[in-house]
Amino acid sequence: MTISETSLLAKVQNNFIGLDTVYTLADDRKTKRIYLDSTASTLMMGKVYDLVGKFLDHYANSHSLLHFSAKISTTQYQWAHDRVLSFLGADPEEYTCFFTGSGTTAGINRLARVFRDYRPDKDIVLVSIMEHHSNDLPHRKHAGKVVHTPLKIHSSGQPGCLNIDALKENLKKYGERVNYVAITGISNVTGIINPIYDIAELAHKYGALVLIDGAQMAAHIPVKLSDHKNPNRNIDAFVFSGHKTYVPGAPGVVVCRKDILLAIEPEEVGGGMVEDVFVDNYLIKDYFPDREEAGTPNIPGAIGLATAIQILDRIGMDVIYEEEEILVNAALKRMLENPDMVIYGETDVYKCTRAGSISFNIKGMHHGLTAAVLNDYFNIAVRNECFCAHPYVKELILDDMLDAIEDMNQDEIESKYKLLAGMVRASFGIYNKMEDVDTLINALSEIANGKEKFSQLYHVDESGNYVHKTFTMELENNFSIPDILDKYLNSI
Ligand SMILES: Cc1ncc(COP(=O)(O)O)c(C=O)c1O
Repeated sequence: MTISETSLLAKVQNNFIGLDTVYTLADDRKTKRIYLDSTASTLMMGKVYDLVGKFLDHYANSHSLLHFSAKISTTQYQWAHDRVLSFLGADPEEYTCFFTGSGTTAGINRLARVFRDYRPDKDIVLVSIMEHHSNDLPHRKHAGKVVHTPLKIHSSGQPGCLNIDALKENLKKYGERVNYVAITGISNVTGIINPIYDIAELAHKYGALVLIDGAQMAAHIPVKLSDHKNPNRNIDAFVFSGHKTYVPGAPGVVVCRKDILLAIEPEEVGGGMVEDVFVDNYLIKDYFPDREEAGTPNIPGAIGLATAIQILDRIGMDVIYEEEEILVNAALKRMLENPDMVIYGETDVYKCTRAGSISFNIKGMHHGLTAAVLNDYFNIAVRNECFCAHPYVKELILDDMLDAIEDMNQDEIESKYKLLAGMVRASFGIYNKMEDVDTLINALSEIANGKEKFSQLYHVDESGNYVHKTFTMELENNFSIPDILDKYLNSI
């Protein structure tokens, strides 16, 4: 890393909203929150917050044309599209970008309908078993029959990335019926990275299109959608979430080949995407992104996102990937040294690379209890349960299940399943530092050594949540807009 990259990274890292948030813990200590839940949503980049605030002085609808603010708003909004294309290495001649909904889910639902209408004679979609529900259910609902391709199993017995040979078998088996392959670039459970360009090359060889769920890729590793030496390695469509790319409140993003979108009528219709409307007919614009963006878009969100990715690009996505890899690999290595921990997915980082997330359990301890103790006693924010990836999580915990069910009757198996059906996920963003890893690892050792003590402090409520028997959130921890608003309104 050059000196200027290091100092820009440090400047950006230290300027996020929410890095200094303090909560009072169950043992009365007041500490800064350690945010390890970036796979769900990242914190807000400080410079983005500043600039979007400044932009609001000029905010206007991008469909208004002539007044000063409308001109500024429209130009900035257009810039946001161009910025996304360049961030993802997508040739603007071939690809367009449009914003949709509040995340990846809206974009994938839209593309499932686009691909269905583009090739209505093809009714199979190939996904992997590691998909988030958002890259599985939309294809089931809109595009036909979904076939789940298995993962590569390493010599350790642990699953890694998508099994390319199995994908090939499925492409051969379903032949002409396969419309597209929809694969996550990085798992939101294990952080395992899929070889998306190899997958594209293979899928294209068999005539299938390729859609990449980039929800966990965009903020973590460099992406290049077009201009590969072998054009078969280009990606047809890519979707990601602004709220996972350091801009809470930003929209979902779709980048797609224009020729696919031009071949069909846009899935969404309304104002802004039409040239003219008559009572019995309408003329759709033939240029992008207008054609795909019916209605008033989330203009501040899109501009904020473009600002964030311009900053990420300036630091260098390769630099960001390397920096985060150091954190993830260090956390993984130290978790593996603790015999009380189970880590899911292949853990040999030379065989199977990861970015962003690690999922684990402490042996003999419910994931809900571990997550609650991490929060209440260590101020570490993590996620637990199945992370909207039930088939994958079930596959990952299968070994624990098999070990546990020996000599059990059906009822015991059911309750054991409930105990095991879930894990804890620690996930990282560019604001995390090695001190955060240290704090997490030390907390996990302390919890593992004090399983009995901690479990006695909690009870399980009727919804199955672990609730502390004596500690409740301090009043100051209960941030409430209605209360603040009341004070403001009553002071007038
Ligand atoms: C891999 C993956 N795909 C899709 C989604 C859905 O994204 P969103 O909630 O932004 O719609 C997520 C969210 O966690 C994800 O991690």
